[in-house]
Amino acid sequence: TWTSGNVVEQLVEEIRAQVGEDRVLCGLSGGVDSSVAAALVQRAVGDQLTCVFVDHGLLREGEAEQVEQDFVDATGVDLVVVDARERFLSALAGVSDPEEKRKIIGREFIRVFEQAARDVVRAHEGEGQDGDRHHDHPVKWLVQGTLYPDVVESGGGSGAANIKSHHNVGGLPEDLQFKLIEPLRMLFKDEVRQVGLELGVPEGIVWRQPFPGPGLGIRIVGEVTAERLAVLRRADAIAREELTRAGLDREIWQCPVVLLADVRSVGVQGDGRTYGHPVVLRPVSSEDAMTADWTRVPYEILARISSRITNEVEDVNRVVLDVTSKPPGTIEWE
Ligand code: XMP
Repeated sequence: TWTSGNVVEQLVEEIRAQVGEDRVLCGLSGGVDSSVAAALVQRAVGDQLTCVFVDHGLLREGEAEQVEQDFVDATGVDLVVVDARERFLSALAGVSDPEEKRKIIGREFIRVFEQAARDVVRAHEGEGQDGDRHHDHPVKWLVQGTLYPDVVESGGGSGAANIKSHHNVGGLPEDLQFKLIEPLRMLFKDEVRQVGLELGVPEGIVWRQPFPGPGLGIRIVGEVTAERLAVLRRADAIAREELTRAGLDREIWQCPVVLLADVRSVGVQGDGRTYGHPVVLRPVSSEDAMTADWTRVPYEILARISSRITNEVEDVNRVVLDVTSKPPGTIEWE
């Protein structure tokens, strides 16, 4: 019978057999799949695993801490955090075009991850001579949080492959040859969540809704700046808090909050005129993100979100609701 306990036990044994005493590298995004995959490998081979987390500064409130503190506390994983916030901000300076932003974020991410991966590999190379058993073997494996639907979609394939042949794998060093270890490749999303809970992965990560790799960078319509990120991060945190409080997290696939940074409108607050920015709420219901419908969030909840955001977030004086399905709209605005 399928229990998360049995599955964990079986996968742990498979990973141990596969990896032996080699070292393993894993890129953490803060999402469900990479987190559960890392936790499984950690359970199997302990400190033979090193995780790398690139903080690009485009994450939502609390997300970096969730990885850096909660996840590490819960799993005991060896984590390298790269603070690349300044680097991404400079690279994005002056850029408003959505595709351009996506390209820049993707490119910078690869560069930062490559460098971190090289550093990890170098740190663990040639350590065999001193006889330290844990470090006798160079880094050879890369963990991927590939799920069963991804495997089916790409027409199957063996567990080990040259990294170049896998495009779903963001940010891979081209000149480093890894064998891929994909412990979740027989699981569906709901099973991955059960396994994550079994392994003690924090619930905030296990139940996380989808969040795009380019993060808040593609939820600011206009140039991305530190100030605008701070505004959006606050508005997003309020919307998430109220949707969670209303018990809507499982009903809503995700709810992007978008800052229209190049738009201003007139408002009135207290006894003064304001001239601030609108934010858009984009709650959607979906099965697979290929199509989506806008979620009919109860008016009282929308009202609470709207009044909190306009009261608590400086520079935002208007909250609007996106009532477009996909198609014709995409889920994200950029
Ligand atoms: P769209 O906007 O195309 O989004 O309807 C569909 C789903 O994909 C997510 N998304 C991304 N995820 N990297 C990701 O990992 C990306 O560049 C990216 N762009 C969109 C989006 O949040 C939605 O769940």
